Parts: sequence; C-alpha cells; structure tokens
Amino acid sequence: MLRTHTCGELRLNDVNKTVTLTGWVQRTRDKGSLLWIDLRDRYGITQLFLEEGKTDAATLQVARSLGREFVLKVQGTVVERLSKNDKMPTGDIEVKVSSIEILNASKVPPFTIEDNTDGGDDLRMKYRYLDLRRNTVRESLQLRHKMAQQTRIYLDSLNFIEVETPVLIKSTPEGARDFVVPSRMNPGEFYALPQSPQTFKQLLMVSGFDRYYQIVKCFRDEDLRADRQPEFTQIDCEMAFITQEDILHTFEGLVRHLFKTVKGIDMPSVPHMTYADAMKFYGSDKPDTRFDMKFVELNTVAQGKGFQVFDSAELVVGICAQGSAEYTRKQLDELTEFVKRPQIGAKGLVYVQCKADGTFKSSVDKFYSTEDLKQWAEKFDAKPGDLLLVLSGETAKTQKALSELRLKMGDTLGLRDKNKFAALWVIDFPLLEWNEETARWHAMHHPFTSPKPQDIQLLDTNPGAVRANAYDMVINGTEVGGGSIRIHDRATQQLMFTHLGFSEAEAKKQFGFLMDAFEFGAPPHGGIAFGFDRLCSLFGGADSIRDFIAFPKNNAGRDMMIDTPSTISQEQLNELSIAVKGS
Ligand code: AMO
Repeated sequence: MLRTHTCGELRLNDVNKTVTLTGWVQRTRDKGSLLWIDLRDRYGITQLFLEEGKTDAATLQVARSLGREFVLKVQGTVVERLSKNDKMPTGDIEVKVSSIEILNASKVPPFTIEDNTDGGDDLRMKYRYLDLRRNTVRESLQLRHKMAQQTRIYLDSLNFIEVETPVLIKSTPEGARDFVVPSRMNPGEFYALPQSPQTFKQLLMVSGFDRYYQIVKCFRDEDLRADRQPEFTQIDCEMAFITQEDILHTFEGLVRHLFKTVKGIDMPSVPHMTYADAMKFYGSDKPDTRFDMKFVELNTVAQGKGFQVFDSAELVVGICAQGSAEYTRKQLDELTEFVKRPQIGAKGLVYVQCKADGTFKSSVDKFYSTEDLKQWAEKFDAKPGDLLLVLSGETAKTQKALSELRLKMGDTLGLRDKNKFAALWVIDFPLLEWNEETARWHAMHHPFTSPKPQDIQLLDTNPGAVRANAYDMVINGTEVGGGSIRIHDRATQQLMFTHLGFSEAEAKKQFGFLMDAFEFGAPPHGGIAFGFDRLCSLFGGADSIRDFIAFPKNNAGRDMMIDTPSTISQEQLNELSIAVKGS
C-alpha cells in the first residue's frame, strides 16, 4: 500500500507516529506562516499542516501549488490539535507534514465535492465519477452494499441458492416494453433483455432447486419516474412446495432482517390487507399506512338531499384531516385546485369544517342541515377542530383522486416521516384487469400467476372478479416487491393464455418451453421479487432511486456521462442486417 493509514482513522493515541496518507485535496488554507490542507478519501478527512520556517521550503512550495482534488501522498507526524474539531472523527489530531508527493494533478472540478454541492443534476450526471466522491452519494452506495450482503446472509441461512439466469433471452410479458438486441448470426432475429427472470426461476423449480434467489439486473422500456429506471435490480426469489403463507412469512423475515441489521430497527410483524380493502379504505393498492386517515363512504348520508353532484355519483367518499378545521378560504381553494389538476381529475371538492364550538361550516350548506352534517361527522368519528374533505363521482376515479389528496394532507400535516416505516402485505389482487387500449383482459401481475381455485369458475362469466394468489409488499406507500403463487400445470396455464387472448399456437410459440416443462413433474411453487433500488432508497430516506445506483440514467433514459443511447456505424448496422429509417 502507498499509505500507512486512511484519512478517517487517526486519533489521539496515534500522536507521535510517523504516517503516510493518500487522498484528494478537499481544500487548502494559506495563512502565510501556516498552511493547512484537508486530505480526503472514502474513510474521512484528515487535516495536514505545514509551517513557514519549520517545514522545508521545497515542500511548502509544493503545498502552495496544490488545487482542489489533486491526488497526494503525504508523509508526516501525528500531533494533537490545539483547537479541536468535535464534528470530525479525526478532529483531535492533525498531521505535521514532512513531504508531499503529487500523485496526480486535477483540473478545477465542475462543481464542489461537498455534501451540499453547487452542481445541478445534469452536471452531476455528466461527471458522475466526481459526484460519487461526495459523502452522501458514496454513503448511499455503501448502504446498498450492506443491504445486498445482508440479503445474501439471510437467504443463504435458509438454504436459498443464488443462480445466474441469462441476459439474452426471449421476451417475457411483464407488462412493459422489451429492450431488444439484434442477433448478427441470425439476421432479422432479436434477443430481448429480461424484464425479470420469471420463467427461468420457474424452470429452476421444475429442476428441483427448491429455493432460488438472484440479485439481478432487469430491463424495462417504460416511462421513467423517480422510482423507475430502465435498468434496475431485483432481489428475485422462488420457492417450491410452499403455500402463500410460507412465502409471506419467509420474505417478511427478509425485510425484518434488513431493518434490524442495516438500520437497527425492530420491525413489527407485517399486517395483511386485501386489495379490495386497500382500494376501499385508501383508494390505492399501495397505501401509505404510516398514517390513518381512512376513506369513509358517505353515499347513505349524503345522497337524496337535493345536491345533484352527489345524487348522480356512484361514490361519495371523504377523509378527515384532524385539527385542520381552521383552514382559510385560500387554503381550501388551493386544495380544490389541487384535486382539479388534470393529473388528479376531480371536478370539485366539498369540505366541512367541524368548528371548535360544535357547529359546522361547509361548502354545501345550501343542501345540508346541521343535523345532516353532524351525521357525516359521526361517520368519520370527527372531533371539533377536524376538517372533512369529500369527493364524488365514478368509483375508481374518485378513489384515485382522494388517495392523492390523502397523501397531500399527510404531507401537509407532517404524517409521512421518512424515519418511520410502515410495511404492509397487500394480498388477493385481481387476476385480470381490463385494458381500454387493447380492449382485452391483461394479467394484473403476469400470466403465470395462479387464480384462486375457488374463483376459477368465474373466469368465463365475470373475469374481473377472479382473484389471484398474488401479493405485494408495500412500505410507506411504495411497492417494494411483488409476487405470486404460480400455475404449475399445462392445462391451467393454457386456460390462462386463452383468457388473455392468445391463440393456442401463439401460446405454444412464446411459452411452449414452460408448458412443456410443466409436463415433466413441475412442483407447486411461488415467489416474489423485491425492487432492490427502491428498497435501498427507502432505507436511505430518499425519494429517488437514482443515488442508490452507481451510474444511473436520467429521466429521458440517457446516460449523460458516456452519452448513450448513441448511433452506431453503418458497418455495424449492415452486419446486424438493420436498415435505419431515413438512412
Ligand atoms: P414486478 O414487475 O412487480 O414483479 O417487479 C418487482 C419489483 O421490482 C420493482 N420495479 C422497479 N424498480 C425500479 N425501476 C423499475 N422500472 C421497476 N419495475 C419494477 C418494484 C416491483 O415491486 N417477476 C415478477 C416477480 C414475481 O412474480 O416473483 C416481477 O418482476 O419494486
């Protein structure tokens, strides 16, 4: 090693030692007779000093030529500091420099390498290797490393085997578009990058592997958001000879193990909620259960009083924001504007202020008597001082809009603390969902998910009512994982494909290998995949998964640093038998 110690390790008991440190210049301060250098590496910062008259002139000259981010090898003696800095672990000491070797110079970095940097997003992405020198970003990746380590420890202790599955595959229908790779040797043919290793992990169960996992890259060509990247990582798992309860128990165990070992948090056991209840009480299949504010349906008390908007609505539903009755007209107007934004899509907002003196003030006083409003308040179990916010309309749309309003009120009232964690299993998802665009039923999870046996008979008559043995883990309103018990016999799989609109020939062409495998002794099996980046960002208290990925893409799917996607040469295109439109 070029160094004897790291920049984060020297303490008072190292005083008088001769040490050699290596690292980057964080900053220098030249006070004339005294000169300080803060030397940084991934372990910390150590203060170095040189003194006019005591340090030799040549070394002082080198020190005065240094710029930020120069790479140094420095020799010196550890001394106790006169003015200590209790904010730094190395703040009790400094190193009296005897020699400096510049290992490499640095141009002035395009942004400051500090916790609160002056670099904008694009600049930081372009120079990601510099951004990664910043503590916050490095710590995020260290957290990720720890999470991966602990995941392996937990799963290994339960006999899971990590198996790598191929990256050049045939498309698996997880609901997003595939990224495809042209095959030079098979002109006109393409591989697809896996959206997940779904079919492979099922085949491993047929092979008798019994318990599989993989921390694996997945690729999805979909619109990007703060919690979505085109390439992301899953903790992908599958088990054979299990029930749904076994899976929930095993993977709740994983999440609790991670909370305990990585954050020191004892997580209580994870409650279960059916999809139907999640929609009814939170208007979302990923409710944030850090706070209550459950939906209350008002159809029975709010309809039939002459208020046309409610009378004609399929659903009248509201939430109770505790202690918010004194909202001003302006604040209420802002909430109304919020729900009327096109992304939310409500037509308007009805409010009822439950005043401290027991009276009510509402935006629909014309239609409802005090007695009526009292009935509403009772439904909400509202207290004087609370504010009721009510929406109405078509059920699904109204639930979605109220869910957004609930989250906004949760934010406003400080109920969504990033250091608090509430996990939830959402179970009994519908098997199918109607897709307006394609005018057919799609698998809500994926086509390999098994219907609940007692619901199979509804497939022909009421497909939307068929429930699946499918489950999601939700933490703080984020879907961190999802999985299901799988179909493991050819006939049911074929039935499922038929209901998804595949002809027998199409199903055979795309998934013949899986259905064939089911005929060679496929065991009952099921599994789950966690979004590893999401889990890390949640543990790190961040909204975006980007900083938990070493080299992420931006929202347009570009890697700004290596500048890709990019064109390829005509020669490459010819070799791949690809004709580009317009060329
Ligand atoms: P699913 O599609 O629900 O299930 O994905 C599992 C988890 O992966 C995360 N995730 C993403 N994270 C970042 N960027 C993305 N673009 C992205 N897409 C998904 C989510 C999600 O819960 N094969 C099934 C699992 C199974 O059935 O076992 C699957 O992939 O946190």
